[in-house]
Amino acid sequence: MAAPVQRDQELELTVDSLAYGGNGVARLDGFVVFVRSGLPGDTVRARVTKVQRRHAEAIATEVIAAGPQRVDAPCAHYPACGGCRFQDLAYDAQLAAKHQWVADSLQRLAGLSDPPLEPIVPAASQFGYRNKMEYSFTTNDGGPTLGLHRAGRWDEVLEIEKCWLTSDVGNAIRNRVREWAREERLAAYDQETHDGYLRHLVVREGRNTGQALVQLVTARGERFDRERLIEVLTEFPEVKSIHWSVNRGAAEVTNLPTDLLWGEDAIEEEIGGLRLRVRPNAFLQTNTEMAERLYAIARDLAALQGGETVYDLYCGIGTIGLSMAASALTVWGIEISEESVACAIENQELNSVGNAAFFAGNVGEVLAELRDRAGDPDVVVVDPPRAGLAGKALRRLGEIGAPRVVYVSCNPTTLASDVKRLSDDYGYRLVHAQPVDMFPHTPHVECAALLLRDAP
Ligand SMILES: C[S@@+](CC[C@H](N)C(=O)[O-])C[C@H]1O[C@@H](n2cnc3c(N)ncnc32)[C@H](O)[C@@H]1O
Repeated sequence: MAAPVQRDQELELTVDSLAYGGNGVARLDGFVVFVRSGLPGDTVRARVTKVQRRHAEAIATEVIAAGPQRVDAPCAHYPACGGCRFQDLAYDAQLAAKHQWVADSLQRLAGLSDPPLEPIVPAASQFGYRNKMEYSFTTNDGGPTLGLHRAGRWDEVLEIEKCWLTSDVGNAIRNRVREWAREERLAAYDQETHDGYLRHLVVREGRNTGQALVQLVTARGERFDRERLIEVLTEFPEVKSIHWSVNRGAAEVTNLPTDLLWGEDAIEEEIGGLRLRVRPNAFLQTNTEMAERLYAIARDLAALQGGETVYDLYCGIGTIGLSMAASALTVWGIEISEESVACAIENQELNSVGNAAFFAGNVGEVLAELRDRAGDPDVVVVDPPRAGLAGKALRRLGEIGAPRVVYVSCNPTTLASDVKRLSDDYGYRLVHAQPVDMFPHTPHVECAALLLRDAP
């Protein structure tokens, strides 16, 4: 049967719910249309942007009648800015949608008709919660400026005056760097022509320590006065660490080697009583307040009694493992980023943790070796990136067969498919899944899950 809509067609639609990822779901005689910027209960005029056999995509061009959960977005850059998707959806409705996405994933992809799902934990702060921001330079009438990508555009940057997801200090540092770039008559890099110089600005903050790290990313060559940049940034007493990276390639990346221009090479953050060193490229959960909650949930799920061998896989700078070490016999962490492992080892020393060890490696490649060295684990904590456990990592984890696996996930769809494989192929049961909202106004949802495996 041909799709009942055509590209560029204008439709009037009523949105029923939010699909995973944040588009509204509307139905036209049963045919599903995903509506960008459509919120539950809205009647919208929408233009069809893509048609497929089973569904179409559209963008809302006008809200004809607002749904009951629409609220005024506080940010002046919303909805043009791609940083937030749901500032105009009441927070309770955001939570309900996220909870439902986790439930749907576990039902559809893990095949669990009644998943053991707890109510979602709301974020402690709905705004100002991010401890890391990555801005792009662009050019406007006033010269070089800094901002975030426009919604749906990787090639357009929107100047930002105030971002509601970062702190006042974070906003002030970004705006001061914009002024500096103008005063120094430096040109923003142009992604199309590859002309220009300034590419990105990364600002990281230890939200519980008040320390900030700034990383400037430029095209090749030293075309700025270091001393002046240092002078400008140290106007902020919070700035403790200033780095510079050169991006010689076309890709818009910031995880590059850095040159320390001034100050300490790392800043510190404090989470759950642990002092943590954070370098420019090391992974740290971007919501400090909620990371504390998430790690506390992971610790509860691990249910350590003091005698356990714990693996902390995808350990980043060691946060989860170190927060469990006091209740375990030994903790063994694996992480692919050498910079993060270096931080994990420093963090272990900083917190005088004597029973943990951290290694650099790809989990799938080195897990068998870790088992030879550390012995069988009683508890394995995994906290993989969005792609979930890659094939080999999952097989190795299944073969090890620890009785208790705590799975911290930032993507409910890969969590659900990994849960399915761990149960079908390795005898695990999902016994607890706890969604946590770390990122209000965005479609991201975190989940801490517990899988148990009975002794064979
Ligand atoms: C979601 S983060 C979790 C970090 C840490 N558990 C935390 O809460 O801060 C995922 C981490 O996995 C690391 N990683 C990605 N792929 C990996 C792999 N194949 N093997 C080991 N670590 C990997 C990333 O560098 C990142 O630090």
